[in-house]
Amino acid sequence: MLSQQQLKQEVARAAVEYVLPLLQPNAIIGVGTGSTANFFIDALAAHKGRFRGAVSSSDRSSARLTALGIHVFDLNDVQSMPVYVDGADEIDAGLHMVKGGGGALTREKIVASVAEQFVCIVDESKLVKQLGRFPLPVEVIPMAVNAVAREFIRLGARPVLREGFITDNGCPVLDVAGLAIADPVQFESRVNNMPGVVTCGLFAISGADIALMSTQDGVKQLRRASS
Ligand code: A5P
Repeated sequence: MLSQQQLKQEVARAAVEYVLPLLQPNAIIGVGTGSTANFFIDALAAHKGRFRGAVSSSDRSSARLTALGIHVFDLNDVQSMPVYVDGADEIDAGLHMVKGGGGALTREKIVASVAEQFVCIVDESKLVKQLGRFPLPVEVIPMAVNAVAREFIRLGARPVLREGFITDNGCPVLDVAGLAIADPVQFESRVNNMPGVVTCGLFAISGADIALMSTQDGVKQLRRASS
């Protein structure tokens, strides 16, 4: 029986095998944040001669990439990336995700938006029928914390300020529990429209293109149910 850590390591290795054929020598790869993304960075480092460098979604991933000899580019200096690889806190069959457990949601959404393909790497515990059991991270402009929290309370949810945490962009995060997200695309738009919200951790309007999911029986590829 593989532990969750081993499952994360397995899917990270599978992701490296998946992305290598997509990388030209001048390619820049998008790299996410979190424990699964860390395993991916570690496995990718063995192939650092095969591509030019990376854009990362957090200061901590950038530090890990740099320490392993992978050059980190500023996104402003990069026009395109064949692929962005990142974990998720929850994913459904439509490949909509909840992300941001590590607080890097805004940069994750930005870097992913520039990449041609989002490859989500998860262990099987992250697959859910309906998003919302994992509290939805929402990055908020500091002066709007209470106003945004009240909006969620009006929706019947339970927002909690993430104590002692500030994002790489200098903003706090609300973790919103008690949501059953029946229509992730519509709900992402609704939260995006709340004044003061920087980004919500729903990745539904633009979800993953493929998910690699490690199970006790090996790594499976999930494609969108509708495609
Ligand atoms: C980071 O902000 C997140 O979006 C992560 O991708 C997500 O929390 C998954 O993290 P793990 O790979 O550590 O489970």
